[in-house]
Amino acid sequence: MQIPFVDLKTQYQTIRKDINKAISTVINTSQFIQGEETKRFEEEFGKYISTKYCLGVNSGTDALILGIRALGLPSGSEIIVPANTFIATALAVSENDLKPVFVDIDETDYGMELSDLKRKITSRTRAVIAVHLYGQPEKLDEIKKIIKKSKQKIYLIEDACQAHGAFYKTKLVGNFGIFAAFSFYPGKNLGAYGDGGAIVTNDKKIAEKVKFLREYGQKKKYYHITVGVNSRLDSLQAAILKVKLKHLDKWNGKRQEIAKIYSTLLDKLSPHILYTPKIFKDRQSVFHLYVVRVKKRDGLLKYLQENGIQALIHYPTPLHLQKTYSFLGYKKGDLPIVEGVAEQIISLPIFPDLTKKQIKYIVKKIADFYEKN
Ligand SMILES: Cc1ncc(COP(=O)(O)O)c(C=O)c1O
Repeated sequence: MQIPFVDLKTQYQTIRKDINKAISTVINTSQFIQGEETKRFEEEFGKYISTKYCLGVNSGTDALILGIRALGLPSGSEIIVPANTFIATALAVSENDLKPVFVDIDETDYGMELSDLKRKITSRTRAVIAVHLYGQPEKLDEIKKIIKKSKQKIYLIEDACQAHGAFYKTKLVGNFGIFAAFSFYPGKNLGAYGDGGAIVTNDKKIAEKVKFLREYGQKKKYYHITVGVNSRLDSLQAAILKVKLKHLDKWNGKRQEIAKIYSTLLDKLSPHILYTPKIFKDRQSVFHLYVVRVKKRDGLLKYLQENGIQALIHYPTPLHLQKTYSFLGYKKGDLPIVEGVAEQIISLPIFPDLTKKQIKYIVKKIADFYEKN
């Protein structure tokens, strides 16, 4: 059996008619940039998340870059970033000539380790990025409490690039910071057929700034007020996303069911070989990724791949040890929890159309591996 990590072809077959219609509508109107479809998707996604403003941009990375730029932070500012995230979270800080400060992680939810967060706040800290990694909402109340206790003006930013539709208590993630960034990279829970992203915010000033930053710094066509970029969500992607948004909750529900099946089956294997994701009552994961911690990780990964199962690692090297950030002077041992976790984690295939038969095959192969090793 061959099991891909994500199967977008099968998903397309389930929505083919609507997608094809949406694409041909855009082509027929030929409004490819900043057309009606983009405006409508922005309205619908903003309404879905429940924020006042939603601005489409070119990618999740750009959503973070432009959102941070709109904050207008002074040079020398530090922004706190968890060490286990996709590098784009930190690149968005560096791209604004600001300093990312890495925090160790909590091995129960793979979010930030709160005592390390407290330790890393300095007089130069201006923002903390809460990353809802793997679709699991961060400990937002606790993070907010730490920020408040510092008695400094520190913004909370949400990197929700992996968590479309995830609930923190009674609200969807995206509602808790000065702004939140979403990615519509194809493999995401809500994915386009190319690059795409959005900033959502309730802050009028941030929304207005991002509006001109994403379009060459112009407030009116050909009248430029600041150094901007070209970063827009195009109409074809917006039209596709509009179709897919209608299915998002159902697809997230399927991911949650799949995670439950995985965990039930995997928890039956010998204890202490494998740790399945912890379920939290008041913060519901949408399982963008299904990540387990295992013994003999590299051997298992190889064995699964040899058996046609495309498992991956998110992420193999913590950010403080990436070559990109060697200039910051971190060394091995500085963030011990994330360094240990990075050697144990493995992401098993998960997508809404993954069948029970496929899940059982994956679990059987995992059991086989530990019987032999
Ligand atoms: C946590 C996180 N932040 C930021 C990004 C960047 O999004 P994009 O790939 O759309 O630029 C991603 C995408 O993989 C992500 O997973």
